[in-house]
Amino acid sequence: MIVENDTELQGLRAIGTICAATLRKMMAAATPGMTTQELDELGRKYLESQGAQSAPQAMYQFPGATCISVSPVIAHGIPGEHVLAAGDLIHIDVSAEKGGFFADTGASLCIGKASKEVSALLDATQATLKKTLSVAKAGNLISDLGRTMQSEANRRGYNTIVELASHGIGRKLHEYPSDVVNVYNPRDERHLDEGLVLALEPFLTPGSGRIAEERDGWSLRTRDRAIAAQFEHTIVITKGKPIIVTS
Ligand code: CO
Ligand code: CO
Repeated sequence: MIVENDTELQGLRAIGTICAATLRKMMAAATPGMTTQELDELGRKYLESQGAQSAPQAMYQFPGATCISVSPVIAHGIPGEHVLAAGDLIHIDVSAEKGGFFADTGASLCIGKASKEVSALLDATQATLKKTLSVAKAGNLISDLGRTMQSEANRRGYNTIVELASHGIGRKLHEYPSDVVNVYNPRDERHLDEGLVLALEPFLTPGSGRIAEERDGWSLRTRDRAIAAQFEHTIVITKGKPIIVTS
C-alpha cells in the first residue's frame, strides 16, 4: 500500500509494534527443551491479547500462528514436536493483522552459543538488511534493493536466496510490489514511491541459494542443506530514512 495520511501510518505502526513485541518475546523464550509448538503458542497468545490475528493463518490457512523454521528449513516451517536444543539455528517469522493493517517481521537466532560459522552468518545478514535500508528511499529504484542485498551478501562471502523475495505489504500480507527479488534485476524499472510499504527480507546462505520444499507442503529448506538466515522489517518509504514500523 501507499500510506496517504497519519491515520494509516498509525494503523501500520500499531500492528508493527505488536509483531515486533511478539518476535522479541518468542526469541527470549526460545530455550533448550521447549518445542517449537510451545514457542508458537506463546506467540499466538500474545497476538490474541493484543487484538491481532496471525496473517499466515488468516490468509493461507497456515498450520501455526507464526512460522518457526529449524535449519536447514529457512521459511514457512510449521511449529511442531521439534524440541529445541543448544546449537539449533532457527528462524521465527511473525506477520499479523489488526484493524485492516498488516506487518511482517522475522529474525534468525541460535539456541545457546552460536558457532563461529553461524554467528558470522547472522552478523552478515543483519548488516545486509541495514545496508539495504540505506538505499530504501523515494526516487530510488526497487531494483536498488536487490542490487544492494546481493552485492553486500557477496562481498561478505554469501549468496542471497533468489526464490524468497521481499514484498509489498500493508492492506494484505503480500501485495504490490511483488517480486522484490534479493538479487539485482536490471529489467525492473519500478520506482520506490513515497509512502510505499515494504517488507524487506534478505536471506543469506554460504550455500548455493536454491530452495526445495519439504514433504509437509510448507517448509522451505536450502536445497543443499546449507545454513541460512533471514532478518525482516516492515518499512514505509520516505524521502529520507525509511520508517521502520517493526523495530
Ligand atoms: Co515474514
Ligand atoms: Co515477508
